[in-house]
Amino acid sequence: MQVGIDQIGFYTPNKYVDMVDLATARGEDPNKYLIGIGQKRMSVADSSQDAVSMGINATLSYIDQVDCDQVGLLLMGTESGVDQSKSASLFVKSALKLRPEVRTFEIKEACFGMTAGIMTACDYIRAHPDRSAIVIGSDIAKYGVGSAGEVTQGAGSVSVLLKANPRILSINSGYSAYSADVNDFWRPNNSPIALVDGKYSKEVYLDFFTRTFAAYQRQMNYQVSDFAALVYHLPFVKMGYKANQLAIANQNEIVQKRLEQNFGLSSYYSRNVGNIYTASLYLSLLSLLEQGKLNSDSLIGFFSYGSGAMGEFYSGKIVSGYEKMLTPNTNKQMLARRKKISITEYEQIFNQSLVLPQDNHFLDSDEENGYWYFAGTNQHIRQYKQK
Ligand code: HMG
Repeated sequence: MQVGIDQIGFYTPNKYVDMVDLATARGEDPNKYLIGIGQKRMSVADSSQDAVSMGINATLSYIDQVDCDQVGLLLMGTESGVDQSKSASLFVKSALKLRPEVRTFEIKEACFGMTAGIMTACDYIRAHPDRSAIVIGSDIAKYGVGSAGEVTQGAGSVSVLLKANPRILSINSGYSAYSADVNDFWRPNNSPIALVDGKYSKEVYLDFFTRTFAAYQRQMNYQVSDFAALVYHLPFVKMGYKANQLAIANQNEIVQKRLEQNFGLSSYYSRNVGNIYTASLYLSLLSLLEQGKLNSDSLIGFFSYGSGAMGEFYSGKIVSGYEKMLTPNTNKQMLARRKKISITEYEQIFNQSLVLPQDNHFLDSDEENGYWYFAGTNQHIRQYKQK
């Protein structure tokens, strides 16, 4: 039985910062951000968008086409949690009006959270072939105004429906995982922003990629040349570019060109959105699917990385007719609808996001009609509304 991705949805908030403006404000050469880091724009979430509302919005884009009676599992990977106890997925389940019988919980291991959810969901469907599962990654990357990580911020969510006989990507059994207790990036309970040893984090990422990719090829008896594309967790585009360069070293010109071209296509959305932590790898997949042209049965390799650290490599095959399941124009409009904000406006929004919402102070949203938003807390209970 084939198990994999049948639907995929994406949401990013309606404001962005241009990296040339940010570089100018920080006294950096714009090419450092555009070329050295590889980022063009970053989405900015104001106080009315959080991991929950973005996760609802990403799933809304396909939920009408889902038989909700079949959904047995709803998992949410996030490191931008809104509560220390209650799962973010319960708010999402309520907004989507899923059945009370759905098993639902939140998963945390930095950016690895959505992959953990996908692997769990695949096992669940193999055991319950008549059921489907929704897995969401949703995050706001925050490093701080003026920090080295500032250029690698972003906000957004990707949601997938997994089921038997999927119509987009069939996920192969088998994976290679590698974990170690390291301090490359973390966010203590008393800090709204991430702490990071930036240069060390890049080394750990590449080390875990090299290990898991080599182990996976040995396990599955695959060569680099068997892959049509490799997609990566993209904290910033240059990071994945470096891993991809390691992967294609020693390959012939045809293989190098194919994997380089497809890396370019898979990084298009991230370059314009920024790091969305748990969902970043799946934004790379969406970008490849919508910007590229893939033959059915093309083998796609996935490198998932979560600081702390956990790395995993797995693969999937493109299903014939996958294009019919995509909505590239909707996602194009999603990016185009964003309003460019000035650095002063961005700094105001950022500083506001560091302050906890005041109870019984209700928030409005300047989003388009139909989108959900965080409307403030009532008796310390979070309220979500649809515009
Ligand atoms: P930095 O230290 O300010 O930048 O911040 P740099 O000095 O390393 O320069 C970056 C690149 O720009 C270099 O290229 C420069 O040469 C180049 P490289 O040597 O890397 O190829 N450069 C220029 N290029 C063209 N024209 C110029 C120019 N000037 C310089 N004029 C750093 C970079 C990544 C450290 C910082 O942004 C940061 O700390 N980011 C956050 C951490 C991060 O994203 N780490 C990635 C791996 S960890 C991960 O992926 C997990 C994560 O997503 C979290 C999770 O799992 O939850 C982060």
